Amino acid sequence: MNHFGYRNGVLHCEDVSLEAIARELGTPAYVYSDATLRRHFNVLADAFADKKVLIAYAVKSNSNLGVIATLAALGAGADVVSGGELMKAMEAGVPADRIVFSGVAKTREEMRLGLERGIFQFNVESLPELHRLSAVAQEMNKRAPIAFRVNPHVEAGGHAHISTGTPETKFGIAWHEAEHFYEVASRLPNVDPVGIAVHIGSQIMRIDPMRAAWEKVVSLARRLRERGFGITRVDFGGGLGVPYKDSEDPDSPTIYARQAREVLGNLDVQLILEPGRLISGNAGVLISRVEYIKERDGRTFVILDAGMNDLMRPALYGAHHEVLPVRTPAMGAPRSAVDLVGPICESTDRFAKDRPMPPLKEGDLVAFMTAGAYGATLSSQYNSRPLVAEALVRGDACVVVRRRPTFDEMIALERAPDWVAR
Ligand SMILES: Cc1ncc(COP(=O)(O)O)c(C=O)c1O
Repeated sequence: MNHFGYRNGVLHCEDVSLEAIARELGTPAYVYSDATLRRHFNVLADAFADKKVLIAYAVKSNSNLGVIATLAALGAGADVVSGGELMKAMEAGVPADRIVFSGVAKTREEMRLGLERGIFQFNVESLPELHRLSAVAQEMNKRAPIAFRVNPHVEAGGHAHISTGTPETKFGIAWHEAEHFYEVASRLPNVDPVGIAVHIGSQIMRIDPMRAAWEKVVSLARRLRERGFGITRVDFGGGLGVPYKDSEDPDSPTIYARQAREVLGNLDVQLILEPGRLISGNAGVLISRVEYIKERDGRTFVILDAGMNDLMRPALYGAHHEVLPVRTPAMGAPRSAVDLVGPICESTDRFAKDRPMPPLKEGDLVAFMTAGAYGATLSSQYNSRPLVAEALVRGDACVVVRRRPTFDEMIALERAPDWVAR
């Protein structure tokens, strides 16, 4: 469900035409729908209405300030994985006591930042990290509320690169060592082990593997409580998938919430969720313009002005995005198989191969659908292309929430050494 659709033959985001946005912002540009973001957050929140739940939006999926602020205003917390994400979440209005700090490699500075701001929880992923956090907290005369992220040895996720719950991955502490780690933590002076966390992967369409992981977390929580540990929170992570194709039908938030309720049973804890893609995924599209049509060796290359630096998912994971013409094609226009490629000097800069598309010509606009998650956040300046612009639409209003830097701005952060004669 999203708020993108054709009106009078032109693709719109809510009440604003993508043609108008392309005219104002130039292309490529991401466009987000406020109504879609709010709907997805509210559907999830409603599904858990009977539970003590903190929905900590995974900022990594879309960290635009406008997006985070939209969700913060609805009561969302934030799951952050860097000092930068922490600062952005707070700037966007997420209260510190709704921020969970995840990630395998928190630096001392990031720990200090989290402690200074008084965040809700650090999700700790190793013993060295635990000891470092305790030492940093001690130096600051603070206490750090922690959950260990356990690696439950459960496989899930839409692609090997986004599967995180198996022993070969770097994530979490070993499942069978968890009890021992809680004993260690409870003996340290400045950490409070209050929770258990898990996150087994992303773009999960069927949630059975989550049940296996959550059951391990809940049974660990029960055992630790019996032993007198003050476990008051469990964090079930994120990972629920979204449809990238019409044929895809992921398990719904309602089914997800039912499963969580079943697994939790009578365990009285605060539940934390870290959804990213579920909220931001189909709330965004990337608009791009056709630069050239190149016919060569029996292939048709539709060369777009968006590249893998703007939308990396296809190059990184072989991910699929529907690509729609912004103007509806003429009735009965034949489709033909084309390769949709970008301007970057890499063979992987290809969004789709042999994709049946209606006739396209130089100057036409297309929209990559379901590009709101892991789109702009994975973008880069590769090939010295200024970072892609972003806009947020509410009804008939459109706000540029990140403008494209100028060449001068892009270059200003760098300098040539003085020893080079120029
Ligand atoms: C620890 C953690 N939580 C939450 C998420 C969000 O996942 P998703 O966007 O699939 O919901 C991720 C994504 O990688 C993650 O690593």
